[in-house]
This record gives sequence, structure tokens and C-alpha cells, in this order.
Amino acid sequence: MPSQDSVPRNGVGGSGRPGTVGWPGPLRHFVDQLDELRSADVPDMEQVGRLLVELAADEEFFAPLIAQIPSAAPGSRWLVRPERGPRLVLVHRPDGVMGYTHSHRCWVGIAPVRGVETHQRWDAVCHQDGRADLRLADERAMHHGDVATLVPPRDVHNHGHVAGTGPSPYSLILLGDDMLLFDREEYDPEQGTWQALAPGDPGRADR
Ligand SMILES: [Fe+2]
Repeated sequence: MPSQDSVPRNGVGGSGRPGTVGWPGPLRHFVDQLDELRSADVPDMEQVGRLLVELAADEEFFAPLIAQIPSAAPGSRWLVRPERGPRLVLVHRPDGVMGYTHSHRCWVGIAPVRGVETHQRWDAVCHQDGRADLRLADERAMHHGDVATLVPPRDVHNHGHVAGTGPSPYSLILLGDDMLLFDREEYDPEQGTWQALAPGDPGRADR
């Protein structure tokens, strides 16, 4: 997840929720559909993932947004960002740059719009002395049309670009809530360690 915040808090166009008047059609449609799914107590993550893939397929909508994020550096653009509840951000990581491993304490969906996003999900057990038992539970090189979803407590992951997999990724990340409100964890799988992230701490951006 990015820590940057370079766009209006409520999304593209600035009008934001609760009203979505003036939003780009693809985003308005997405949020309306997502609201219908969320009327259930626990969102059906398969359906959430399907909606995210549908949105990510809108090349015409995303091409100009991607063009504003230079490929050589990390970048992001918030698309939907209410005070609470689901929020959507377009994230780019350049060649060979992978994010730190972290938890969210809320549900998450990730779908590439362009390029190849390598996604790793971890089973993690934290010990009081700072050690962590980390087991790679899933690893996928995700392309256009793919989606990964996570639900706490199985919400520990990292993602980004691995050299040699293809072009660097521009991906949609959908979060069920503002993860910066929660106590979270950041992990170093190589060292087998973890550290607490207090609310408001986005953690380290890239490793
Ligand atoms: Fe994440």
C-alpha cells in the first residue's frame, strides 16, 4: 500500500461519497455494485474480486491515469477515498521493486490493470521477542484479468514487481476500510522478524 496522497481525499473529480454525482462513470458503477455486495454482513470476496477485474478491464478509463504515473518511480493515485469503508487506489511499482510484507486488519483486493504484479501471501505467527514464523502460502505472477483477495486474519502479503516477469505493474488495490486506523504488523521474511505498526504508520514503502 502506498503512503502518498496526492489527490483529493474523496476521489477523482473531488465530489466524493456519499454522493457520487460527477464521478467518472466506471468508478460510479463500481461503487454502486460494491455497495450492493456489502449489504451482506460479510462481503462475498469472490464477487468483490469479479467487480475489481471488471473495472481493471476498462483500458480507456485507466490509460490517461496510468500516463500520469511515470514508469521509472513508484506512484499511486487514489480513486475512491471516503472517511470510512471501501477505498480504491491505483498503484505502480517500477522494475524490480517489491513492497514490504504487511497486514491490513481489513479485507483487500488486488487486480492488475497493466503489467505483471507478483503477489505473495504469508501465514505469519508473531513472537513477543520480535521473531516471526513466516510461511509462504501463495505466490502468483498476476496479469490483467487476475485478482487476489485477502480477509483477516489471513491478510499478510507483499506485492510488487519481480525482474524478468514482464512489464512493471499498474494495479488496483481495493481496501475494505482505512487500514491506517488499525494496529498492524510489518514483517521481514528474510530475517524472520516483525514489528508493530501503530495506527497512522504506513510502514516502509518498498524493499
Ligand atoms: Fe497490502
